Amino acid sequence: MSSKRKCSPLSSIGKKQIMGATGLLLCGFLVTHFVGNCTLFLGPAAFNKYSHALTSNPLIYLAEAALLGLFLAHILMAIKLVIENKKARPVEYHTYIKSGRGGTFASKTMPYTGIIALVFLVIHILGLKFGTQYSTTIDGIEMRDIYKTTIEYFQDPLHIVFYIISMIALGIHTSHGFWSAFQSLGLSHPKYMPKIQLASKLFGLFVVIGFSSLPIFCYLQGGH
Ligand code: HEM
Repeated sequence: MSSKRKCSPLSSIGKKQIMGATGLLLCGFLVTHFVGNCTLFLGPAAFNKYSHALTSNPLIYLAEAALLGLFLAHILMAIKLVIENKKARPVEYHTYIKSGRGGTFASKTMPYTGIIALVFLVIHILGLKFGTQYSTTIDGIEMRDIYKTTIEYFQDPLHIVFYIISMIALGIHTSHGFWSAFQSLGLSHPKYMPKIQLASKLFGLFVVIGFSSLPIFCYLQGGH
C-alpha cells in the first residue's frame, strides 16, 4: 500500500499560530490607528500635524512594509487553513472552530467577515491615503490637508454606511479572533479563558463603536 502524502512545510498548528500572532499584532495596529485618528476630534491642525509627523518620518516605509507583511501573512494562513479544512471535511464544512459544538456566529463567519474587512481596507486606502490631495500650511510648514480630504470623504452618506457595515464585520471578526489567537498560541488557561473571551467581546465592541464614531463625527463637521 503506497502512502503518498503531500507535505506542507507548516503544520496546521503552525499556521494557526502565525494567524494568531499576526492577528494580535493587527489588533495592536487598530488601537494605535484609532488613538491617532482621535486627533480628528481636536480639529484640522491636530489631525494634519499628526498625519504629517507620521508620513514625513523616513521610518514610515519600514512600518508600512511590516504592516503589509502582517496583513499578507494573516490572509495567506487563513486561505491555507480554509482550504485544508475543506479538504478534510468536504461534505459538512464549517471553518476550523474551536469554540465547541458548531461554534458561534462569529467563529462560523470568520472567512466572510475577513473578506469584508479586506475589501474595506482596499477602498479605505484608495479613498483617504490616495484620495484628493489638498495642501495647507501650519506653523510655517507646508503639509497635506488630510483633514479636508477626510471630512469631504464622509459627506457622502454611502461612505458612512459602508464604513459602519465594515466596522460591524471587523468587530465580529475581532470579537472571535482575539481570544482564538490566545488559544492558538497556547496562552489559554481554563481559569483565565472567560476573562479573555470577555476582553475579546469588548475589543469587538470597541472596534464597532470607536471606528464608526469617526465617520459620523466627520459627517457632522460638514458645512461648519
Ligand atoms: C473608520 C475610521 C477610520 C478613519 C477615519 C481612518 C483614517 C485614515 C487616514 C486618514 C489614513 C491616511 C493616513 C495618511 O496617509 O496620512 C488611513 C490610512 C490607513 N488606514 Fe485607516 N482609518 C479608519 C479605520 C481603519 C481601519 C478599521 C483599518 C484596518 C482595518 C485601517 C487601516 C488603515 C491602513 C492600513 C492605512 C494605511 C497606513 C499607511 O500606509 O501608512 N483604517 N486611515
